Amino acid sequence: MKKVLVTGGLGFIGSHTSVELVNKGYQIIIVDNLSNSKIEVHDKLEQITSKQITFHDIDLTDREAVARIFHENEIESIIHFAAFKAVGESVDKPLDYYRNNIDSLINLLEMCDSHNINKFVFSSSCTVYGQPDKLPVTESFPKMQAESPYGNTKQICEEIIEDFSKSKKRFKAISLRYFNPAGAHESGLIGELPLGVPNNLVPFITQTGAGLRDKLNVFGGDYNTHDGTCIRDFIHVVDLAIAHISALEYAEKMEENYDFFNLGTGKGYSVIEVVKSFEKVSGLSLNYQIVGRRSGDIEQIYADTSKAKERLGWVAELDLDSMMESAWRWQKNLQ
Ligand code: UD1
Repeated sequence: MKKVLVTGGLGFIGSHTSVELVNKGYQIIIVDNLSNSKIEVHDKLEQITSKQITFHDIDLTDREAVARIFHENEIESIIHFAAFKAVGESVDKPLDYYRNNIDSLINLLEMCDSHNINKFVFSSSCTVYGQPDKLPVTESFPKMQAESPYGNTKQICEEIIEDFSKSKKRFKAISLRYFNPAGAHESGLIGELPLGVPNNLVPFITQTGAGLRDKLNVFGGDYNTHDGTCIRDFIHVVDLAIAHISALEYAEKMEENYDFFNLGTGKGYSVIEVVKSFEKVSGLSLNYQIVGRRSGDIEQIYADTSKAKERLGWVAELDLDSMMESAWRWQKNLQ
């Protein structure tokens, strides 16, 4: 049977996508080097889906190991999540980021070439837009100079995929530009697993709610927004996961060799609104204070989602409260 290779399938978005794929009847093979994920996630995936799921602990920069997977399996398509993703760390260790994120991609594309694999979905980010002049941001907005080596790897990888797709007639590739993924699977069995102190807002909020952190620092209260705090387009990870299946299906019929889509809800929420939503669903009062701005943050961004709706037939359905509720359930299960 033909299979979908899910790289980084034990990570936050990869694990949720793996569940949706299996539930839809896809046969998947997960590869993950456990650099930012835990082997227990594999058990949880089998528990949620009641299916056996093939997993290989492989580093995608290891060309021979990658070749072996393709030799031993009939892979039909690839969803490529596996990448380093910490913005701050990428500034300190740029070569690690370029080596890992770019070599992994090239090894996979070489396999597409030699094994005639024609469907490829890539995990990209709204970071490619920087702070856009106008909102909501559409896919036709120009890409901005990346703020970090991490962001640059997303831009470079998109370009490599586009160039490769032009060189291969039947190859169809899609980059999905995620806005701010949040939430967790409704079972509470999988979710975001930040290593150490979380950088991202939602895990920081849930850890503060759980008493693991003293208080949340809200970075900046003097932005030009309705309550002075930054605005982001938070999207439920399960909605995001489902979009990958829509993308795989679209790759079957698309005319262009390469396309790219915003994945967001189209609605921006401020940091304070996210805090309020958490307080509402948890019944807790969150200890937070407004502090200075975090360097590198943009003021506001949210997606124009019409292209994904028109071509992929996909729209996000879950709201902010449902993101916070599921993230909170997951956090409580971790303790
Ligand atoms: C970050 C990454 C982005 C990545 C995304 C994944 C940067 C510059 N960008 O986006 O490339 O795709 O994560 O989810 O890091 N905030 C607080 N207190 C906190 C943490 C965050 O106030 O303790 C605020 C931030 O200032 C920001 C908002 O919450 O305004 C969202 O922050 P975060 O969750 O880190 O996401 P982004 O910075 O938008």
